[in-house]
Amino acid sequence: MSKASLVARFEQIFGRPPALVTRAPGRIEFIGNHTDYNGGTVLGASIDRGVAVAVAPRADGARNFHSTYTGKTVTLPAAGEPAKQTGEASWANYPLGVLAALPHFGLRAPEGFDYLADSDLPTGAGLSSSAAIELASALAFLGLTGQAPDRETVVKVGKHAENHFVGVPCGILDQGVSGFGEAGRLVFIDCAGPRFATVPMPAGASFWIFNTHTKHALVDGLYAARHRECMAAAAALGVGLLVEVSPEALRAAEAKVEPTAFKRARHVVEEIARVDACVKALEAGDLGAVGALLTASHRSSQHLFQNSTPELDFLVDTLAAAPGVFGARLTGGGFGGAVMALAGPGFGAAGAEAVAAAYAAKFGARPDVLPMGVGPGASVL
Ligand code: GLA
Repeated sequence: MSKASLVARFEQIFGRPPALVTRAPGRIEFIGNHTDYNGGTVLGASIDRGVAVAVAPRADGARNFHSTYTGKTVTLPAAGEPAKQTGEASWANYPLGVLAALPHFGLRAPEGFDYLADSDLPTGAGLSSSAAIELASALAFLGLTGQAPDRETVVKVGKHAENHFVGVPCGILDQGVSGFGEAGRLVFIDCAGPRFATVPMPAGASFWIFNTHTKHALVDGLYAARHRECMAAAAALGVGLLVEVSPEALRAAEAKVEPTAFKRARHVVEEIARVDACVKALEAGDLGAVGALLTASHRSSQHLFQNSTPELDFLVDTLAAAPGVFGARLTGGGFGGAVMALAGPGFGAAGAEAVAAAYAAKFGARPDVLPMGVGPGASVL
């Protein structure tokens, strides 16, 4: 919804205008699958869809959270520690997690307020609606209290909310891309620092998202399990994080690592090498090489990290063979969600429709086809 519609909706619900409106984008994981929490490198793109938040202060100490998604208001007291919500109100854990995170960075949380969130991101597609709501909320709460920390701190507040309040042991990819995104550019993150930079999106290339609407029932548990397997592999190799191991050193140390953990580790260390090769291929404008790296990343997810699904594999197989597509891969944590394709001008709506029709013939349901632009990062509007 536009800023004007969000303001109008806020007035309808709370009977007065908001003090400020913020917006943060979702992201595409371009390449660098499960590298972030292993201290590696990753490339992402902030997309032209996201979450917008409108807020106004209240003097009575009540915190009202309203989402256009549920159409309901959750009212909580400002006093005391934010309490974790369940059921229909559980979306509020994202702004609540941000409120709980702020003091860990020497920042103040606002007392009472009215809060409205609206999203044009598909949920469950692996486009990180959670990071988008965390960053839009963080900028809103910081704006309400007149605080302006640097961008890296805002990103870390969002990640802290996800790790410690929501309870997902994610790395910094999602919040980093939402926070540091720029129109027409990819965000590069060296997660060990962390260090953030951007590289131009190659001319003549575009993103397509195919959302399968499938999601493994245990997706959060599976993500945490992969996280544990990576840490176990690092411990067996005698390093703090897998980024410290080169692909050659890993091969030489295979006997030290339990076979499943070894496959996870091989995915991560080779994926970090692919990210670095991808940055070079982007700089050289070699979209053929970029695409081959994207598809190789998917194959590694499929066979080594085992976070793909038959639906995602089918889409990648079909897209990789489609005229005008440079490469395709699952995007985000995996175990369902969406596939991203990088395509040239030779691939358009008709090509995408053919892929969706082939998928529907096999699985009996259509994926959503979403052409995606690369838009700006989180900001106060
Ligand atoms: C999810 C997490 C990210 C990252 C990806 C996998 O999106 O939130 O931190 O680990 O999975 O690369």
